[in-house]
Amino acid sequence: MTDQARTLIEAARDAAKNAYAPYSNFAVGAAVLLGDGTVVTGANFENASYGLSLCAETVALATVNAQGRFRDVVAIGVIGGRIGHADTAPVSPCGRCRQIINEAAQLGGCDLPVYCGGATGDRIATYKLSELLPHAFGPADLGLVDR
Ligand code: THU
Repeated sequence: MTDQARTLIEAARDAAKNAYAPYSNFAVGAAVLLGDGTVVTGANFENASYGLSLCAETVALATVNAQGRFRDVVAIGVIGGRIGHADTAPVSPCGRCRQIINEAAQLGGCDLPVYCGGATGDRIATYKLSELLPHAFGPADLGLVDR
């Protein structure tokens, strides 16, 4: 595992401790690395209405944006697992989160690395966003950034 991957997976695991996931009992943490080395985290945030639940990646990226840093994302780590289990299988971002990560990727002009891990263990799957969301539609299609 690279140092960058390890840093983000560990930060995502810390964040997952604060997951609000009483319905799924599945805790997810995300950690976003910015260009200056800052790491911004998020955890999934569920709701009694179920459908209004927010994923960890979305929470983390919205926080990055609230700090005025949405164009400065360089990598993201995601972990997840069932609460009370020592799950080791890497969790990769859901489809909606891939689209939201793509917003940051295109704005920043970077095919972001996405490190995926389980709640525990050394199994890490590393992807480029373009592998997770090929032929993405995004801000470049709307002329917001150059291709
Ligand atoms: N979840 C995330 O936080 N990120 C993902 O990419 C996949 C799913 C959350 C949503 C819900 O709170 C729980 O995991 C089970 O789906």
